[in-house]
Amino acid sequence: MNRHEKTQDASTHLARREALAALGFGAFAAAGVAMAQPASQPSPPSTNPTIPKELPSKGPPTAIIPGNVAPAELNVFDEASGQFVLPQLPYAFNALEPHIDAKTMEIHHDKHHAAYVAGLNKALAELARIRTAAGDSALVKFWANQVSFHGAGHINHSLFWNMMAPAGKGGGGSPRGKLAEAIQRSFGSYEQFVAQFKATAASVEGGGWAWLAVEPWSKQLLLFQGEKQQDLMVTGALPVLGIDVWEHAYYLKYQNKRADYINAFLNLINWEYCGKLFDRGIAR
Ligand SMILES: [Fe+2]
Repeated sequence: MNRHEKTQDASTHLARREALAALGFGAFAAAGVAMAQPASQPSPPSTNPTIPKELPSKGPPTAIIPGNVAPAELNVFDEASGQFVLPQLPYAFNALEPHIDAKTMEIHHDKHHAAYVAGLNKALAELARIRTAAGDSALVKFWANQVSFHGAGHINHSLFWNMMAPAGKGGGGSPRGKLAEAIQRSFGSYEQFVAQFKATAASVEGGGWAWLAVEPWSKQLLLFQGEKQQDLMVTGALPVLGIDVWEHAYYLKYQNKRADYINAFLNLINWEYCGKLFDRGIAR
């Protein structure tokens, strides 16, 4: 049993309240942190409408995690310290070669992803200072935006690492099970999905992401772009597959040839994990 399977049960026991709070991911999920109330510790309403309601001081802020992912599965938050943390990669830096080189993976994880974790903790700490009147309440919008940007970056990358696997050893091939059926239903065929996926990822302006997501009400799959980490996300949509198309994800090896990187990424997709995210998404 792999670690995803071990934690699958936990995901099915997410409190209904938390699941409803976890509206989508990226910006929506990150914004949910500032809005969510811990079910066991209700806080009085804020008397100042410009200051966010009380955040839970301890425990995983599950509203930031997409509703089809168990918080413990991603290892993104340390309950003991109350801090978000950088999860380990599920494989070695060089495991995705030749499609993604080891140096890119090392910089991407150890520098870029780590910076999002630090930025998220910093932003949450600044909001806490504002709540106790030690900070400048005029900056609440700035720090809330920082939570959105860095929080989305942290969760996006934590998912992204798990959405890939070494080619031929869990990575590549084609989708299976209900996800394969949904791709057929939503896009006409796997080949047509790939064509739209490539075009979506290739045309993201500047840095950003392309996401395959399931919209739980219709159970339809959507492909959309996420500019930066979080803009243009679809409320309620749950991640199934994402590709990071910021230049830091591919420039050392592919320079300006983003399309070549997208083609290489197809050899690394962990369809087993993506299928689980889809199955959980439509089961909610
Ligand atoms: Fe990235």
